[in-house]
Amino acid sequence: MKLKLQINQVIKDAFFKAGIDEEPMSVTNATKSAFGDYQFNGAMALSKKLSKNPREIASQIIESLDLSGILCKAEIAGPGFINLWMNPLWIAEQCQIALGDERLDIGKTKTPNRVVVDYSGPNMAKQMHVGHLRSTIIGDTLASLLTFLGDEVIRQNHIGDWGTQFGMLIAYLEEIGEDGSVSLKDLEQFYKDAKGRFDVDPSFADKAREYVVKIQSGDSHCLELWQKFIDISLGHCEEIYEKLSVNLTREDVRAESFYNDELPKVVADLASNGTLKESNGAQCVFLEGDEIPVIVQKGDGGYLYATTDLAALRYRAKTLEAKRISYVVDARQAGHFKQVFRVAKESGFVGEDVHLEHVGFGTMMDKNGKPFKTRDGGTVKLIDLLDEAVVKAKETIKNKEDYSDSEINALAKIIGIGAVKYADLSINRESNYIFNWDKMLSFEGNTSLYMQYAYARIQSIFRKYDDEIKGEIIIGDDLEHRLALMLLRFEDVLTRAARDASPHQITSYLYELATLFMRFYEQNPILKSDVDEETKMSRLLLANLTAKTIKQGLALLGIEVVDKL
Ligand code: ARG
Repeated sequence: MKLKLQINQVIKDAFFKAGIDEEPMSVTNATKSAFGDYQFNGAMALSKKLSKNPREIASQIIESLDLSGILCKAEIAGPGFINLWMNPLWIAEQCQIALGDERLDIGKTKTPNRVVVDYSGPNMAKQMHVGHLRSTIIGDTLASLLTFLGDEVIRQNHIGDWGTQFGMLIAYLEEIGEDGSVSLKDLEQFYKDAKGRFDVDPSFADKAREYVVKIQSGDSHCLELWQKFIDISLGHCEEIYEKLSVNLTREDVRAESFYNDELPKVVADLASNGTLKESNGAQCVFLEGDEIPVIVQKGDGGYLYATTDLAALRYRAKTLEAKRISYVVDARQAGHFKQVFRVAKESGFVGEDVHLEHVGFGTMMDKNGKPFKTRDGGTVKLIDLLDEAVVKAKETIKNKEDYSDSEINALAKIIGIGAVKYADLSINRESNYIFNWDKMLSFEGNTSLYMQYAYARIQSIFRKYDDEIKGEIIIGDDLEHRLALMLLRFEDVLTRAARDASPHQITSYLYELATLFMRFYEQNPILKSDVDEETKMSRLLLANLTAKTIKQGLALLGIEVVDKL
């Protein structure tokens, strides 16, 4: 249910009826329940245009307003605001419809886009780090959300699998032989060992350099070694995807190397466009107003990160025919994307109608506000971090007697991984993010555990009441009214979160919803003996819709619910 759209339509109809030939601005959520459910603030803006007093315009609108359907009451407030009350009968009816629908009456867009979501993008030469964790979690949510709302999503894992360091790595892999896969387990260490060999042994270093040239010229032995290295390395990433239940597969990998053959063409096409200038031997694009040029080819003929991204942009726009391309990448790469987007558009690699966006995110910090590192200053291995989340989750729930060991293990996984994901998704993605175990594994506050707890609490009501639920939703009091209205706002929230590529709008909503439900539940007991049958049914239905909404919301964030907690 696109709630706002419906209310805006009522206002539009009133404008038409009142003979106001203007497009009304959108209503906003009322800031207090004393101000109704929504507010229309458009009368003030019209006052100048129509040279009329805003209160006069407001009353003219109200006179033409249909108060027999969605809305039931409208009042002028202050200098010309209109406070709007929703009709409880209508709200109840809509909740009923949502309850009877698998998708909770959430529509699919009538104008689906093909969207490329570029996320995760780990570098094969190194261990995946916390930045890639954020990209993976946020990107996966964005992809699920857009898919749910009806877009056609193509996931692209732009892994870093090319560059001079691979000469050294595969020379080392060859040297340690077949068992390479074992020591490769710790990529950080593998890299250090290879580098150690490179630094002390000139013949090894020569071989490494020779291998760089050989891979680039397509030597089959070197390419085989390289492929082996990439396979093992990608396998490590897939372990992490698996633990995170992230929907990324090998099919989604379009590695940097995939674009190799395109790179000379990118440069040649830029040259024939007349966009290219030589500067200190390098081929550059100078963008108007930008001091630093985009280098697309170095003096020695080598290509750069930007060249590959230009090739990828062209592929995504022209071959995949995407209309929106979202890059879920560290905010520190904002400058890079701003530039390549501009070059891509100005050179016609990407059509004007394609929406390019950098979905940037902040750095993960430790409790003290320092970049996230292990105690000894090393990089935190993601796999360890995720395992620790599960261990910590287990501690949180270990004193639950009515669970078997295997149930506790399964539960710990859901809670631990859910906590890591939710904590990441629940802050404005552009902010730096402080990683705090205690906070993310708390039952209090805006956490996954709080949401999972609210859900389980509702399920426990249904365990106690196992009769058939018949009857309908009747909005009895203000809290019920607010809860029902909140439930109907779900689609509006999802649509905005998708538009802004901003999952924290979903978590904020879920938190508000769960908090409201808890209050509702405390004030309006459901199964007490003095509650009459009609009210009981209505409240059970509202509770059920709340649970379904929480479950759906968390599912979009890639987080599971449990029936008992
Ligand atoms: N591998 C890159 C990094 O670790 C991220 C890739 C992002 N995607 C892209 N098309 N540039 O920084």
